[in-house]
Amino acid sequence: MTIERTTTAAEQPTNSHQPTNSHQPAAGEQHLVIRDLHVAPAGHPDQEILQGIDLDVGKGEVHAIMGPNGSGKTTLAYALMGHPAYIVTKGEVDWKGRHILKLSPDKRARLGLFLAFQYPTAIPGLSVASFIRSALNARLIGIDHNGDIDPTDPAKGGINMRDFRNKMREKFKLLAMDEGFASRYVNEGFSGGEKKRLEMLQMAVLEPEMAILDETDSGLDIDALRIVAEGVNAMLNPNMGVLLITHYQRLLNYITPDFVHVLAQGRIVKSGGKDLALRLEDEGYGPILREAGLETSTPDDALLVPIAPDIEPVSVGH
Ligand SMILES: Nc1ncnc2c1ncn2[C@@H]1O[C@H](COP(=O)(O)OP(=O)(O)O)[C@@H](O)[C@H]1O
Ligand SMILES: [Mg+2]
Repeated sequence: MTIERTTTAAEQPTNSHQPTNSHQPAAGEQHLVIRDLHVAPAGHPDQEILQGIDLDVGKGEVHAIMGPNGSGKTTLAYALMGHPAYIVTKGEVDWKGRHILKLSPDKRARLGLFLAFQYPTAIPGLSVASFIRSALNARLIGIDHNGDIDPTDPAKGGINMRDFRNKMREKFKLLAMDEGFASRYVNEGFSGGEKKRLEMLQMAVLEPEMAILDETDSGLDIDALRIVAEGVNAMLNPNMGVLLITHYQRLLNYITPDFVHVLAQGRIVKSGGKDLALRLEDEGYGPILREAGLETSTPDDALLVPIAPDIEPVSVGH
């Protein structure tokens, strides 16, 4: 399809001829490379929240990021997506072999990045179906504008109504959701669980290649936890990388991460496999912070990983 061709032909990643490390992905490969990322609030460029994040997320890998409150988890999610409240003061982020930090959030989305919000916004008057169809069409434009592609026109690369309905039906089924959801207004009067469901539905329809999920640090109810676990598991595929930001070890009993990273004081202080999350649940963050040479005045008891409510085992795995 023309959409595919136009996204790759025109671009030559600047670093494609000079690999800087052995993991350097080939041009266009679905690989997220974060190098020495420093991020500050837009209003206070001198007060860095993230102080040098290095992270590689390979194609289809699931990476969990855990960290105490205020460690910078949400800041990382927002910076990757291009939230205007944050500025990158140093470092680089490459996705599919191109530097994305100068791209607007919508362009990053067109490149296949997706962020599930901690606190989704209500949009009264706009139906879920219209909202998702617009988002899908916008995504179909691709990154390099091409006059031949006009997603509002089914003949030029947009999705026609019948195909869209079929796609929605398929995703409602995948997520075991009621189709009546489609005609409701975006997040208006939604329960916490329903808001999470809508985030999962958007993710299912947009079929991102890199999903960033920012979980609430508190008040994540049992329903929301189960919905995220089921939704992600239903969608996991070798074509989708996941950056799962969570405060709860328990979520990782249901979504099995390939890697776990501990974020503290704006840096990744330790990386490991799933066992690292279990160790965190046992010991809290205190010992790992000390191992990393970080002085903390917070007592260990306050650095324990909160225990999320127990949820029924989910039937789908990966
Ligand atoms: N827009 C902002 N302006 C000023 N400070 C901020 C802003 N966003 C986050 N912070 C501060 O940065 C730190 C990290 O916040 P956040 O990324 O939300 O942490 P986490 O998600 O790990 O709890 C906190 O101390 C928070 O108060
Ligand atoms: Mg947060």
